[in-house]
Amino acid sequence: MAEPDSQDIAAQERFARMKADFDRLGDEALDALFREARTVNGWLDKPVSDDQLREIFDLMKMAPTSANISPARLVFVRSEAAKQRLSPHLSSGNRAKTMAAPACAIIATDYEFYDHLGYLFPHEPSAASWFKTSDEAIHDNAFRNSSLQGAYFILAARAVGLDAGPMSGFKNEGVDAEFFAGTRIRSNFLCTVGYGDPKSIFKRSPRFDFETACEIL
Ligand SMILES: Cc1cc2nc3c(=O)[nH]c(=O)nc-3n(C[C@H](O)[C@H](O)[C@H](O)COP(=O)(O)O)c2cc1C
Repeated sequence: MAEPDSQDIAAQERFARMKADFDRLGDEALDALFREARTVNGWLDKPVSDDQLREIFDLMKMAPTSANISPARLVFVRSEAAKQRLSPHLSSGNRAKTMAAPACAIIATDYEFYDHLGYLFPHEPSAASWFKTSDEAIHDNAFRNSSLQGAYFILAARAVGLDAGPMSGFKNEGVDAEFFAGTRIRSNFLCTVGYGDPKSIFKRSPRFDFETACEIL
């Protein structure tokens, strides 16, 4: 490993300070993020502000991606005019609840993410070449990491007291032509945000137990 410079040492001290004051999240946080949080299908009549959308992004962007490539790009569809552009591309089962949502994020992927690595991974000038080995490698890394960032988005929304409704039931090509024409950005999935109406929630579907889904070797 390279010798740490003064910025590395400052980062190490900052991390150590944070860990010294932290044991683990309490039950309230674990419930709000995971155990009692739900995917919502309907919304209370309560708007979501620019500041709240910014706060979600400012949290999700800090969670890790491969070599910090950060390929997710977000379009927040909130105005009536923007919702009308999105509407024709939604599956019929997703249309009404998306139109009724305070906002819907198009979680998209920049397939030219490698052009930004000089900014995002400045200590390693050759980083772009790690990814530009084939179209498949570019695709896999972009899709993997934007999907991760989409998951971080859901958890960030929950962390700031909002609810999320992720959806893949829409025509990606239609959304891409409408919102990302002339770019190498492509939609991944949609995620509504707002304050969920408890009446819109169905009974919880089962989850695998540890023994079914996991192995410790
Ligand atoms: C990537 C993704 C795509 C989804 N697509 C849809 C969808 O198109 N329509 C829908 O009603 N729900 C969709 N869902 C919601 C899932 O069915 C829901 O999150 C899952 O059943 C867990 O529900 P729970 O969080 O309430 O336990 C999607 C969820 C994810 C993460």
